[in-house]
Amino acid sequence: MTTYPADQEDFTRSAPVRLWEDGFAPDPHRYYAALRAQGPIGWAELAPGVPAYVVTDRRAALDVLHDTETFSHDPRAWEETVPADSPVLGMMRWRPNALFADGAAHVRYRATLIDVFGLVEPHDLRARVHRAVRLLAGRIGPRGEADLVGDFSRPLMALVLNDLFGLPDRQGDRLNEGLGKMMEGGVQAAEGEAQYAQYVLELIAAKVERPGEDLPSRLLDHPAGLTREEVTWQVFLTLGAGYEPTANLLSNTLSRVLGNPAYYSTLTSGARPVMDAVVEVLHHETPLANYGIYYARRPVAFHGVWLRDRVPVVVSYGALGVPRGPHGAPDAGREAPEVRHPNDASHVSWGAGPHACPVKQHTLLLVTEAIERLTQWLPDLEPVLPRERLTWRPGPFHRSLTALPVRFSPRSPDQPGVKS
Ligand code: HEM
Repeated sequence: MTTYPADQEDFTRSAPVRLWEDGFAPDPHRYYAALRAQGPIGWAELAPGVPAYVVTDRRAALDVLHDTETFSHDPRAWEETVPADSPVLGMMRWRPNALFADGAAHVRYRATLIDVFGLVEPHDLRARVHRAVRLLAGRIGPRGEADLVGDFSRPLMALVLNDLFGLPDRQGDRLNEGLGKMMEGGVQAAEGEAQYAQYVLELIAAKVERPGEDLPSRLLDHPAGLTREEVTWQVFLTLGAGYEPTANLLSNTLSRVLGNPAYYSTLTSGARPVMDAVVEVLHHETPLANYGIYYARRPVAFHGVWLRDRVPVVVSYGALGVPRGPHGAPDAGREAPEVRHPNDASHVSWGAGPHACPVKQHTLLLVTEAIERLTQWLPDLEPVLPRERLTWRPGPFHRSLTALPVRFSPRSPDQPGVKS
């Protein structure tokens, strides 16, 4: 058994910050402040009885993300320590894909993803987004009111991803349901995981039988020679990694655009482009708030804390975007100064190091294009609720609006002036 310096034992005996409790979704920055008060690394729980170290300091985060000698992305040793019915297992358990692999295995998996996504040209992606917006705007336009989460962001991602992955539009609801439950990490997580896995298994079986011009078929055909099982888990990762965070990036950005007249009134003139709002979201409401999950390969002293092995080390992308006060202290009440570039170094919302998001450019194009198109179709969108009354879905890993109700002048797709 490992012995720890006595003061570090105290650290993990202190009451953990409970990221699973009801108060987290409405006010995550209060929880991040409590974690920061403990230093660069705080002590938390992802689910009842599932402890984790949470990294809230930028330097320490970059060290975790880059130091592959000390930190692994492979959760298998940790899995032995958690009950088989833990609600976070759906999101955290090992599978043979890029996210849970290190070293050469990781390079092999990741290269296949980069190759197949590299074949999706910007103009092609743009066309797929336009088709999806047209479909959805045509559906909600005549109603004069909509929920931009349930009627737009989530179905849009289902349409675009199913299109890229070679599935018919009608399959979107199944994707939405299974993944949504798994991501929340609550009592329905296991059921959601099973539904989503079934979805992916059926998809791969169909593509083995009848390959097409789609991402799973290209993975099956990739020279790296992935097995059918490996392709299944790569698709499980990419569909999931694409769907939930991108739908949330989309709706979180829409809520900022609509809630701020400075954006909305200048959207059509391009004076304050949608990208500015995306960057604000990446700072304050990044969708993958706490899903940079690493494991110390052995007990190690790190930024003043003794990290045990077999305990998740969570890089809190959600906490890292918050600006610091004059002496480097966190200043949670203050919004970030205006930042104009999506690669701005003061947030780490795309990750960093070998596992950094490989699809960042596609995602930015998709989100900005979807918002610009929607606001061209429905130019007078007006939020029904002020931003502070919007509600957020539970779950330790994400930042996800429950709903974004809006009203607008009803429009039918064949009306003059409506984009085709
Ligand atoms: C179509 C959309 C997207 C797809 C297909 C996608 C796919 C992926 C994949 C496959 C990985 C794992 C890479 C690896 O382990 O080597 C990854 C990592 C990551 N993605 Fe994305 N992603 C998408 C959108 C997003 C969005 C909207 C965000 C949030 C702003 C995001 C943030 C991240 C982060 C932070 C990581 C690294 C996690 C870590 O530290 O382990 N991604 N993404």
